[in-house]
Amino acid sequence: MCGIIGINSNRPVSSAIINSLKKLEYRGYDSAGIATLSDGTINEIKSEGRVDDLEKNSLIQTIQGSIGIGHVRWATHGLPNSVNAHPHSSQSVSVVHNGIIENSTLLKKFLVSKGHIFKSQTDTEVIVHLITENLKTLSIIDSIKKTLKALHGSFALGILFKDQPDLIVGARRGSPLAVGYGPNENYLGSDSYALKAMTNKITYLNDGEFCFIKKSNVEFFNEDGKKINKKVLELSNEEEKYEKGDYKHFMAKEIEEQPTTLKNGINEYLDTSNTDINIYNFPWKISEISSITLIGCGTAYHSCLMAKYWFEELTSLDVNIDIASEFRYRKKKLKNETLYVFVSQSGETADTYAALDLCNKNNMKTCAVVNVIESSIARESKFVLPIHCGTEIGVASTKAFLGQILILYILALKIGALKGDIEQKTFKQKIKDLKQLPNLVEQTLSIDHKIQTIANTFNDVKGSMFLGRGFSYPIAMEGALKLKELSYIHAEGYPAGEMKHGPLALIEEGLPVVVLAPRDNYYKKTISNMQEVIARGAKVLLITNKSKDEIVSENIWEKIEVETANEDLLPFLLTIPLQKLAYYSALNKGFDIDKPRNLAKSVTVE
Ligand code: M6R
Repeated sequence: MCGIIGINSNRPVSSAIINSLKKLEYRGYDSAGIATLSDGTINEIKSEGRVDDLEKNSLIQTIQGSIGIGHVRWATHGLPNSVNAHPHSSQSVSVVHNGIIENSTLLKKFLVSKGHIFKSQTDTEVIVHLITENLKTLSIIDSIKKTLKALHGSFALGILFKDQPDLIVGARRGSPLAVGYGPNENYLGSDSYALKAMTNKITYLNDGEFCFIKKSNVEFFNEDGKKINKKVLELSNEEEKYEKGDYKHFMAKEIEEQPTTLKNGINEYLDTSNTDINIYNFPWKISEISSITLIGCGTAYHSCLMAKYWFEELTSLDVNIDIASEFRYRKKKLKNETLYVFVSQSGETADTYAALDLCNKNNMKTCAVVNVIESSIARESKFVLPIHCGTEIGVASTKAFLGQILILYILALKIGALKGDIEQKTFKQKIKDLKQLPNLVEQTLSIDHKIQTIANTFNDVKGSMFLGRGFSYPIAMEGALKLKELSYIHAEGYPAGEMKHGPLALIEEGLPVVVLAPRDNYYKKTISNMQEVIARGAKVLLITNKSKDEIVSENIWEKIEVETANEDLLPFLLTIPLQKLAYYSALNKGFDIDKPRNLAKSVTVE
């Protein structure tokens, strides 16, 4: 998952490319590079690390050219260093690439036999040499066609040619790519977000298509090289300014914004009388749907896991959940009466997109729960439920998680009511309760100081466990993911009742164990499981909700109480201290909170 930008203009382009690359860093931030063309020379500058590091390179001020390409990388093949950074260039072409070339080893062998010399460890470099080789005998268009046909795997490409001062070629298979139109200049970008500062007129390439970007026009081709016409979409030209403000990190800001995320979602989907849920233009009859399959990755998968409990309780649907990277390759029977729901903040996650594509190709009912409404997953789903949480910059997903589970809860309530699985009285009461949720989250956010102190304990630990049952189990999984992703501490999320079947062996004196035990149906059972880990030396942080009843357990190390709500809503509240625990523990360790090592915000490779 890398970021691509290309600009073909009459003005010098290097600083515009650098600015766009800064916006694309959410796709990868281990190295960055730029190539421009001036006086028949390809000028290439690359650097390990962030775009800021590239910008500090003294040569960047001198780089000339009114046509160029740029790239931010998330390493797949080869170390994240400046040699493996893109663009990769031969004497005649320069290439930026997002995706993975699966037959690169074979192609490299062939190219080496033809005398090509490779400089990097990347799969991308084979594309450079293959085009160079094909150009020896073929026209530009034929060499592109031949090259693309030879590549297995996924790619979005930007290609610059030494002898073509007015041409950037863009090509796509699997990985998204957009073209933008400006006054006397045109652009290529991995998504419209990268282009939004320059234009709101966009065309998305479909799989297999490629394009020729000239200064004054853009030509599109299908995979056989036949010219095609494409629609120009006009996006809203409001460019959202999303700043950190007084917060140290975007993540801190995004945690605090969660009451607003919930208010936005509630205002969007609850009717003005607060007695019904509006889901407009749902394209299928509810009687046509007897099961639901929820699919996502990472935190979005945890949202699916959470939703499973609600859908099972509130509806008569058969409920399945799946990790997108597993779903897409399993041999399974897709079913017409199933609603396939794809959950994704970015809407660009490659595995989730591939799972959606599989369902679409089989003409299934597909629905997206996404944040970025211009994303590939939103565009290609038959129905979209936006989560409206605004830009999320922190790689660790926080407000998008609450936004996703809110929308999935609302969907479960609505389907339950439409199918007559829940009584109208219960439905209305749950809607009324839901209205209180933003305030309850707001109040829970104030437990801050105590979590900061508790987080100190996580400074030197080897590992930790997060336990919960029922509604709290998905939240335990999410809490563990947040801690490992931000503070690089091994953390296992586990159903509390499963501990005795193996993981109990991990418990030793002083191991921090976070136990989620709100006063719900599972409370007593979870408390028993908690006692079992305490008896074996665990240092237990109990997270529960406020109650007048005393907790019947001794030797708890620390306790945090969130606000009280109806059982369905407790997961929202339990999430807050876990997000803060991960945040403060990473802060104590001095780690890069908004850009944790080895990760990216949008995972556009499989
Ligand atoms: O954009 P998506 O919601 O599809 O992203 C899915 C995961 O990559 C994402 O949730 C990831 O697990 C987060 N970094 C977790 O905080």
